[in-house]
Amino acid sequence: MDKIKKIVDKKKKEKIAALTAYDYSFGKIFSKNGIDFILVGDSLGMTILGNQDTLCVSIDKIAYHTKSVRKGISNRKTLLISDLPFATYFEKYDSIKNSSFLLQSGANMVKLEGNENWVLETIKYLTERNIPVCGHIGLTPQSINMIGSYGIQYKENKKAKKLIEDSIKIQENGAKILFVECIPAYLAKSITESLDIPVIGIGAGPFTDGQILVMQDFLGITEKKRTPFFAKNFLKKSTSIQNAVKIFIEDVKNKKFPENQHTYF
Ligand code: KIV
Repeated sequence: MDKIKKIVDKKKKEKIAALTAYDYSFGKIFSKNGIDFILVGDSLGMTILGNQDTLCVSIDKIAYHTKSVRKGISNRKTLLISDLPFATYFEKYDSIKNSSFLLQSGANMVKLEGNENWVLETIKYLTERNIPVCGHIGLTPQSINMIGSYGIQYKENKKAKKLIEDSIKIQENGAKILFVECIPAYLAKSITESLDIPVIGIGAGPFTDGQILVMQDFLGITEKKRTPFFAKNFLKKSTSIQNAVKIFIEDVKNKKFPENQHTYF
């Protein structure tokens, strides 16, 4: 079955469990052990390259890691999403050129951040050109210099209401999946209930259609000062990484993760 349809069809039927990966070995372990999809995130700027933020990541770096993860997905059934990094989709021509490069490198879908009008237009523009798009709202790390912190966003009611409206526009403009990062659980719930496409949360509480974790947070190897409140070390009580993947998937599907301590209510 079509990889994207398989994920979209899970909405309201089964929770979706996803992880980031950046290389062949982890791509292979995650896909073989049943993860629903994998993201080659621009978080690699921090987790792989050791920078303070994601802004340093170039399109060549995402393409390099996408090629590597793609080789690991031996069953070819696992959806692979790759991030369009900072400043690679400000102009329409760049968005098409860079998205095409990522699809040619092995991605099935590209992800971009934001809910501004120009981002909505870009989603439409790419979708019309048969490039599957995943949106990403709430905390948008590529805007760190404007938003100032990696903490919970959209606590104010007025801003929250606009985010729900914008999420509907993101869907109308063609996005097939939407990520919501670091927003209150009640807001993530309203967005999830307002959309037909799957809403995947990270630091957004238990009511979304699925969860994603950065693999270093999931393995408990992120240094303490950089570990977010919503992270959980699934390796702690596991005998192997393979087993940790299975437990993560089970816990997401059985609504055991995220727990209250990983949630901003
Ligand atoms: O880059 C990344 O890892 C992300 C997270 C939200 C999963 O976008």
